[in-house]
Amino acid sequence: MPRKRLGVVTEGAFNAGLTVRLDPDVTTEQMRIGDFCIVDGDQNLYFSMISDMQLCATDARVSADPPMNAPPFIVNALRGALTYATVQVKPMLMMPKGDEDDFVVDLQSPQPVRTIPMHLALLSEADASDFRAVFGDEQKGQQYFAMGTPLTMDIPICLNLERLVERSNGIFGQSGTGKSFLVRLLLCGVIKSRVAVNLIFDMHNEYAFGKESEDGHFVKGLTQLFGRSRVLVYSLDQDTVARGGRSPDRIIQIGLNQIEPEDVLLMAQELNLRGTAEATIILLQEHYKNNWLSQLVTMKPDEMDAFCAESGAHIASLQALQRAMKRLRAKNYVVVQGNFNLIDEIVQVLDNGQNVIIHFGRYDSSLDHMLVANLITRRVRQLYRKKVEQYEQTQDKTDKPRPLMITIEEAHSFLNPSVSRQTIFGTIARELRKYHVTLMVVDQRPSSIDDEVLSQLGTRITGKLTEERDIEGVLTGVAGRSFLRGALESLDTREQVLLMGHAVPMPIVVRTRKYDEAFYTAMMTDRDGRKPKTASEATAELFDF
Ligand SMILES: Nc1ncnc2c1ncn2[C@@H]1O[C@H](COP(=O)(O)OP(=O)(O)OP(=O)(O)O)[C@@H](O)[C@H]1O
Ligand SMILES: [Mg+2]
Repeated sequence: MPRKRLGVVTEGAFNAGLTVRLDPDVTTEQMRIGDFCIVDGDQNLYFSMISDMQLCATDARVSADPPMNAPPFIVNALRGALTYATVQVKPMLMMPKGDEDDFVVDLQSPQPVRTIPMHLALLSEADASDFRAVFGDEQKGQQYFAMGTPLTMDIPICLNLERLVERSNGIFGQSGTGKSFLVRLLLCGVIKSRVAVNLIFDMHNEYAFGKESEDGHFVKGLTQLFGRSRVLVYSLDQDTVARGGRSPDRIIQIGLNQIEPEDVLLMAQELNLRGTAEATIILLQEHYKNNWLSQLVTMKPDEMDAFCAESGAHIASLQALQRAMKRLRAKNYVVVQGNFNLIDEIVQVLDNGQNVIIHFGRYDSSLDHMLVANLITRRVRQLYRKKVEQYEQTQDKTDKPRPLMITIEEAHSFLNPSVSRQTIFGTIARELRKYHVTLMVVDQRPSSIDDEVLSQLGTRITGKLTEERDIEGVLTGVAGRSFLRGALESLDTREQVLLMGHAVPMPIVVRTRKYDEAFYTAMMTDRDGRKPKTASEATAELFDF
């Protein structure tokens, strides 16, 4: 079936895009900024995006003296004769046409645009086969994951999960746009397809177990969808979890001996530490080596005086540091002597292809997030690094570490410009996938994240942003930003996102896939369409918290 014709190209420039005059029976209201459309050149099809619209008049009298209160038939008569509309179209990809005119050849994949079509090339609506040609199709392989549909059509738009996990990614959007739901969708896709294993810092207790959505119904957690054989929960908080009737697989504790000076300095703001803290910590470390923290929290006033006299430390600074460290010590999940066995076990679990959720329970302050996420991630990356070095030596396929994706919400705590150079997350974002570890960064305010980190993000998925700085931030290092800005500005406040970057061949606006019963069924179904569980087994699993 031929595509629906919209208009013809009348002007254009490679950099500025094409101007298309709409046919008289096509109105601007049938289209939206960011729509995916096709320009049909002589030799190529151009997969393009609508970036602007304009209303024009051929006769200056129409604007100078418009027929006020004209009946509809007059307005219609003017259309095409004296008034017309144009749209600005930006070609994003092109594909050589097959022999048969207009025929999308399956074997050829779309290429970056290197030219533009001539005058009077036809603009038409994209159809299902165009979407499939560009974005792939879930039937084509496990790596294709349907993320949503175009705003005006019901065609699945896929993301390439293999490419997604190759680089660090960002999920942005102001509060309530659906970031956490997007993260759920993506994690499900990655877990189901096994393209990577996941370490998820579940800072707001959203992913492990079911949770009530803003619409008031309960949505399933990852443990319910994939079972404990695929998703393990390590919690900081035994109590809340037990109260909710859901038990984690393990309880994690953090030892004072595992906390490093960098961790403390990173939390300086949360802990109200002054600039002198660093010098004091160095002196404590010189004296007590690895036990500096456990010694500090138990020091009596006279011991503190003696230490200051001996080391030259400043007493007020030492006292302030002790107060801050006592705050940490008071947390139930902090013990004096911790060991790395549990964290090392996490790496083992990931190595087995299982996914790990770190559940924070009632410990949901940014102090908790920073302390725990940094400490665990530092150790995990250290072990991954060893694995990669071993793999490079042996070059044995069985030694190859599985790609790991680490999900962090409230990412600005770790990646804002003042700390991103010190945190392990900043390091991971910058070193790309050298050690097979990448990040999924989730935040409301991209502008609060270090530019250098933003520019390293491979795939960005962003919901509505209103602040100018955030829009700038999310488009950092993206080609064709002026075209994308319009698409970004026209998003609804919920469940619509702009997908761009490494995992999609061209940017596109989609309505996010629903995280609902149909989605659960798709996730619990094998690739060959077999349901692995009977309905009653699935229900039983639902209540097996
Ligand atoms: N894909 C989806 N399927 C079903 N419901 C959705 C989806 N996306 C968003 N919603 C609805 O929108 C609400 C807000 O989404 P969500 O909690 O993901 O926002 P958020 O961007 O994470 O907000 P915050 O920044 O405050 O954490 C959800 O409670 C849900 O009702
Ligand atoms: Mg959220």
